[in-house]
Amino acid sequence: MKSFHSIPKHIAIIMDGNGRWAKTHGLPRVQGHRAGAESVREAIDACKELGVPYLTLYAFSSENWSRPEAEVSALMSLLEKFLKTKLDDLMKQNVRLQAIGQIERLPASTRKILADVMELTANNDSITLVLALSYGSREEITAAARKIAKGVQDGTWHPDEITTELFASQLDTAHIPDPDLLIRTSGEMRVSNFLLWQISYAEMVIVDKCWPDFRQGDLFAAVAEYQKRHRRFGSV
Ligand code: FPP
Repeated sequence: MKSFHSIPKHIAIIMDGNGRWAKTHGLPRVQGHRAGAESVREAIDACKELGVPYLTLYAFSSENWSRPEAEVSALMSLLEKFLKTKLDDLMKQNVRLQAIGQIERLPASTRKILADVMELTANNDSITLVLALSYGSREEITAAARKIAKGVQDGTWHPDEITTELFASQLDTAHIPDPDLLIRTSGEMRVSNFLLWQISYAEMVIVDKCWPDFRQGDLFAAVAEYQKRHRRFGSV
């Protein structure tokens, strides 16, 4: 059981509502994603201030590949631009970058800059920012099952050795603690194929604002809500 005012060790965020935000402002969808990139910075700053060691952001899902090609390539360019322009900041803020998902499906230029930034920030230790890119939880779980089946076939494991710990060790998140708090913006109450295994015990907080309007204060409020829920559990 977590203590009273415990700070979550890991916050995962489904950054939703960029398109709707753009529509409300009479702008093309890509401007919503651009504005959303600013909110990413706010979320990192807020986690740093609270001392949250892991932050995972759902930046591009397996399903997002089916969006119009122009939107997909705009999102990839935005990600590359974010990684290039924020590298100094990430270093200054001592942020370590990691990625989960089918990274091999990303364009070569995106993979290159991602690998460079992950390598350059590998020894930073104030917070780990995990970007979920081309990520789908069912795909991740299926790949883990495939790896384990092969391991059984080649004699690495006996079927009786397949425990939840062994299974978790074959997921992309093997070295990352499970999220304590899952935040989704834009008022939607869905999990959308995000970290299905890992959020088994996470508290969920739904924020009504669209992601581009998300600010540090919204993250602080979500953590306060998380702490209140634990306080209630503690009193029962
Ligand atoms: C969901 O909004 C958001 C995405 C599919 C992409 C998230 C990307 C960013 C916030 C920008 C860049 C990220 C980084 C890490 C630099 P939506 O398009 O599904 O919105 P809608 O549901 O209103 O259409």
